[in-house]
Amino acid sequence: MGLRLGDEAPNFTAQSTEGELMFHNWLGDSWGILFSHPADYTPVCTTELGTVAKYKPEFDKRNVKIAALSVDGVESHNGWIKDINETQNTTVNFPIIADEDKKVADLYDMIHPNALSNLTVRSVFIIAPDKTIKLMITYPASTGRNFDELLRVIDSLQLTAYHKVATPANWKNGDECVVVPGVKTEDIPEIFPKGFKEVKPYLRLTPQPNL
Ligand code: BEZ
Repeated sequence: MGLRLGDEAPNFTAQSTEGELMFHNWLGDSWGILFSHPADYTPVCTTELGTVAKYKPEFDKRNVKIAALSVDGVESHNGWIKDINETQNTTVNFPIIADEDKKVADLYDMIHPNALSNLTVRSVFIIAPDKTIKLMITYPASTGRNFDELLRVIDSLQLTAYHKVATPANWKNGDECVVVPGVKTEDIPEIFPKGFKEVKPYLRLTPQPNL
C-alpha cells in the first residue's frame, strides 16, 4: 500500500549535492519539503529549482527545510546547478538528492510508469516536525509547480496544528478562518476572544487567531 497522510515519512540515507543526507537527522525539528523532478538539464525543472532557491528565505522563516530529488547522480546535479544559477540568476542553496538506484523514489512512490517511464514525476511531500506526512501532491512532468501555493499550505498547516481552526477555500495568511466542527458554538468566545460570525451552525468564522 502506498503512503497516506499521517504516515511516518520513510527515512533514508542518500548522497546529495550537500553530501550524505540522513533524512530524519537532516530534518531535525524542522518542517520539511521533499520534492522530486523528472531529470537534470530539463527546462521546467530548471525554472522550478531556480524558483525554490529564490524562495529559500520564505521557507527558512517558516522553519521549513527543502530537498529536491531526481534519479540523476551528484556529478550531473552539480553540473546542472551551474546552469540553474546562470539562467535563473540565483544560487541553489538546498540539497538535491541523487537517487540513481531509485531507492527513495520507490519508498515514496515517485515513479508513475504509465505517466513517465523510469523517471520521477513532480511529487511533493510536506513533513511535520514529528516526521508525519501532512501533504502529498503529484504533478505531471509538463506542469511546473506553484511554490506560492506550497508556502500557503505551510502557513495553513502550521496554523491549524496549533489552533482549533481550519482554512477555507483560497485562504491566505491573514484571512478569516473556520472554527473546526469539534468546537461547540457556546465555547467559541472563550477560545477565540477576537470574535466570531455564525453563518450557519456548522459554518463559524473567526479572525486568524495567531496574528
Ligand atoms: C522539464 O522539466 O522541462 C520536463 C521534464 C520531463 C518531461 C517534460 C518536461
